[in-house]
Amino acid sequence: MSDQPALEVIDVSVSFGGIHALRNVSLSVAPGARVGLIGPNGAGKTTLVNCVAGGLKPNEGDVRLYGRSVAKLSAPLRARLGIGRTFQNLELFGSMSVLENVTTALDVPMVGIPRRSRAREDRARAALAAFGLEKYAEVPAGALPYGVRKLVELSRAFVRQPRFLLLDEPVAGLSEPETFLEALVDGLDRLGCAVLLIEHDMPTVRELCSQVYVLDSGAVIADGTFAEVARNERVVTAYLGANVD
Ligand SMILES: Nc1ncnc2c1ncn2[C@@H]1O[C@H](COP(=O)(O)OP(=O)(O)O)[C@@H](O)[C@H]1O
Ligand SMILES: [Mg+2]
Repeated sequence: MSDQPALEVIDVSVSFGGIHALRNVSLSVAPGARVGLIGPNGAGKTTLVNCVAGGLKPNEGDVRLYGRSVAKLSAPLRARLGIGRTFQNLELFGSMSVLENVTTALDVPMVGIPRRSRAREDRARAALAAFGLEKYAEVPAGALPYGVRKLVELSRAFVRQPRFLLLDEPVAGLSEPETFLEALVDGLDRLGCAVLLIEHDMPTVRELCSQVYVLDSGAVIADGTFAEVARNERVVTAYLGANVD
């Protein structure tokens, strides 16, 4: 079991009517690895995320979590098997405290911790500490700056101790990505789980990811280290252009 990749996407194809959103896409994320997924708008990134963490069932191919096929399962069942995700649009409860926001992430039957238990609060506080958020525990989430709320969103994914984490553009819209990135790296180091990062911010991808896949028009056009894909002609033409120094 431990030899299996954390995530394997095998020859996945998805079409919406006549549009081929994904064509025979294959990728794999080793246990503990952090892998990036980049590509222009419309490339199929969100479709791939939904094939992995959402309820989207591919027309062809398979998606496996530590060797087990999840391609035909509902999103809640995939979460139960250990797939965590964050959302590009924050899904926090603004009037609730940061601590409550994180504890309610455990309010799903499958996590199996009784409501209002001490263990539940301890876990939530540990998840906050992983991202340096202890000092905000009692503050209403809605009163915090955007960057801090993004970290709270990460704590909500983290507290469930996923075996595989999908990060959907965590840096988008941040005014100080560097500070956020530091906290993100710290938290991920503590969690230690495999990560697939979808991100347009190239310094973040370069910093976080040991390997990068590039999607264009529904197909993987390159993969390798950040440095390798950044000098790949097809990638530069399709996506990076002059974006990368
Ligand atoms: N629910 C849908 N119905 C029809 N077409 C869709 C749907 N979702 C995505 N598409 C199309 O599939 C392609 C890939 O989209 P998407 O996965 O959102 O790309 P990305 O996230 O890389 O911007 C686009 O051409 C998009 O218009
Ligand atoms: Mg998208």
